[in-house]
Amino acid sequence: MRLLIQALLLLLSTVSVAVASISPGSTLYASKANQSWSSPNDTFSLRFVPVQPPTSPPSFIATVVHSGGVPTVWSAGNGASVDSGGTFQFLSSGILRLSNGSGATVWDSGTSNLGVSSASLEDSGNLVLSNGTGTVWSSFDHPTDTIVAFQNFNTGMVLQSGLYSFTLLRSGNLTLRWNDSVTYWDQGLNSSMIANLTFPVLRLQPTGLLSIYDPKLTSPVAVAYSSDYTEGGDLLRILKLDNDGNLRIYSSSRGSGTAAVRWAAVEDQCEVFGYCGTNGICSYNDSNPICRCPSQNFEMIDPIDSRKGCRRKVKLEDCPGRLTMLQVNHAKFLTYPPIFLINPEVYFIGISACRGNCLAADSCFASTSLSDGTGLCYIKTDAFISGYQNTALPSTSYVKVCGPGIPNLSPPSEEDEEGKNWSVRAWVVAIVVLGTVSGLIAFEGILWFWCCRNNATFGRLSAQYALLEYASCAPVQFSYKELRQSTKGFKEKLGAGGFGAVYRGILSNRTVVAVKQLEGIEQDGSAGGTGTGMYLSGNASVISTVAVSSSSSFQTIGVSPQFRKGD
Ligand SMILES: *[C@@H]1O[C@H](CO)[C@@H](O)[C@H](O)[C@H]1NC(C)=O
Ligand SMILES: *[C@@H]1O[C@H](CO)[C@@H](O)[C@H](O)[C@H]1NC(C)=O
Ligand SMILES: *[C@@H]1O[C@H](CO)[C@@H](O)[C@H](O)[C@H]1NC(C)=O
Ligand SMILES: *[C@@H]1O[C@H](CO)[C@@H](O)[C@H](O)[C@H]1NC(C)=O
Ligand SMILES: *[C@@H]1O[C@H](CO)[C@@H](O)[C@H](O)[C@H]1NC(C)=O
Ligand SMILES: *[C@@H]1O[C@H](CO)[C@@H](O)[C@H](O)[C@H]1NC(C)=O
Ligand SMILES: *[C@@H]1O[C@H](CO)[C@@H](O)[C@H](O)[C@H]1NC(C)=O
Ligand SMILES: *[C@@H]1O[C@H](CO)[C@@H](O)[C@H](O)[C@H]1NC(C)=O
Ligand SMILES: *[C@@H]1O[C@H](CO)[C@@H](O)[C@H](O)[C@H]1NC(C)=O
Repeated sequence: MRLLIQALLLLLSTVSVAVASISPGSTLYASKANQSWSSPNDTFSLRFVPVQPPTSPPSFIATVVHSGGVPTVWSAGNGASVDSGGTFQFLSSGILRLSNGSGATVWDSGTSNLGVSSASLEDSGNLVLSNGTGTVWSSFDHPTDTIVAFQNFNTGMVLQSGLYSFTLLRSGNLTLRWNDSVTYWDQGLNSSMIANLTFPVLRLQPTGLLSIYDPKLTSPVAVAYSSDYTEGGDLLRILKLDNDGNLRIYSSSRGSGTAAVRWAAVEDQCEVFGYCGTNGICSYNDSNPICRCPSQNFEMIDPIDSRKGCRRKVKLEDCPGRLTMLQVNHAKFLTYPPIFLINPEVYFIGISACRGNCLAADSCFASTSLSDGTGLCYIKTDAFISGYQNTALPSTSYVKVCGPGIPNLSPPSEEDEEGKNWSVRAWVVAIVVLGTVSGLIAFEGILWFWCCRNNATFGRLSAQYALLEYASCAPVQFSYKELRQSTKGFKEKLGAGGFGAVYRGILSNRTVVAVKQLEGIEQDGSAGGTGTGMYLSGNASVISTVAVSSSSSFQTIGVSPQFRKGD
């Protein structure tokens, strides 16, 4: 019996109890991971979760999370963390308070003396303080980085994640900004609707449609549809400003513990200003954005977190007379209209002047020559520069460094790809060359027998010398018709080697060729198509592959005036 009571007490102390309303004086402890305040049907709960990635010593944030632990839809103090001694309390004075282990207040709801009599977590995910007749404070009115279905996001609100913020303007424009200064994403309403709206509200439908509502709009204006729009299942959809500066719609099925991205405002993550920190250059490995420094003149501010950016090994002010402009190919430094409207940072000048003007100006840290036909040169006068490198970008950028530029040791991902492609190409060329050389040696006897048995000079030549002779010739392209005529319809078979039959052909200029039919190719392929020649360079230049039609392909081997019959 005592054991049973002990077990029951243990259960009561560790297992959460679903509560519709949170009684005054209740406390959640950061150290008790299983303790939570739940919404009536358990769709959401308020609990402490460990900071990710884990810290040492561990730290915790007080959050409203969806069933399954993902996603987090609200956090006290917008992600303010506390040690394992931290608490979250609903005080009888009507305040919600997050305290650290020393009892210091880290965050509170600021609702003392407002007559708050109850607190509750609703099934919508809204944490509400009410005075008996109305709502005094709610988490929906104080969003952190997320909004959920039924939550109204208006012009007075802001989603914040690190230095990034998301706002809705009176014009109905949605903006993403970095450090309250750089707007790197701005989506407006249709031009016909440009005017001050009355009271615009952004709302995410449970179906996954994000739209703007306003009395002046005849119907809600769609901003984005999630890729799983209207798809069923017990799905929770949220709109979240992530700490990488992108605004995304996520879908999460109840209890799954995972959330999938269904829309992102900024399609190209590297276009998010400051994603790689100051002086960081964003590029892609397979699909992930990665951050690097422009050159070895820089070092990572935090080697563990490449997103923290890079600093110059030698400061510019410690480098009189030795400043240079480091060239970064296929790269631009991000600039968005609001900056260069305020500061005259953009000029129409040539690429050399783009580099030189920046070098000469003390206030310039970097420049980008767009090289896209606009003739534009961006002069970056802010010390915080955010780079983007991609082989598809025509721009060339310059960044001011001390002394000569020292290129990065490890090549950027694009160059890795190029390297891989190059080695694949090298293999293909090597195999083709090897195959050709052995093929040539094999046919040499036959060729000699057919064409050159009367030619004393040729007879004296070694096989290697003959190969050099072939190699000196430029590749020649023939049509299927020509090859067919010259080989008398592929009847004069010279022989067959390991890689197919070889026919004898005499061209109009009396050049004798050995024509090889490639494997798996129909012998009577149509002659209708235009021939496409594929020339291999280097040692293989003697080979010319002629693809006459989709079903016919021929190689001519050993085309050389040396083999003119009767010479
Ligand atoms: C929390 O609950 C799970 C099972 O629901 C249990 O395995 C775990 O030990 C509990 N953790 C704590 C800290 O009580
Ligand atoms: C709690 O916060 C106070 C004030 O910020 C700080 O002085 C104190 O060291 C913190 N205590 C712990 C355990 O983090
Ligand atoms: C919980 O309540 C919400 C809001 O009333 C509702 O949408 C949801 O379907 C409910 N979930 C379950 C599992 O009952
Ligand atoms: C309760 O709060 C609502 C909304 O703030 C307010 O309109 C109402 O007057 C308050 N009622 C009392 C009794 O304080
Ligand atoms: C953000 O802006 C503030 C004030 O405008 C400035 O002092 C601070 O250096 C900026 N942060 C960065 C990382 O540039
Ligand atoms: C709204 O966004 C559009 C681009 O979609 C932009 O041209 C316009 O200047 C923006 N308006 C405001 C007030 O920011
Ligand atoms: C602008 O409005 C017109 C007509 O209402 C519509 O056809 C068009 O798709 C809208 N464009 C955008 C970007 O919403
Ligand atoms: C919108 O409102 C702002 C501030 O109330 C005002 O400065 C601006 O001129 C208005 N714009 C339009 C297009 O009415
Ligand atoms: C790409 O970068 C990510 C993040 O740095 C890393 O986890 C992943 O392994 C990289 N992929 C490749 C193919 O290098």
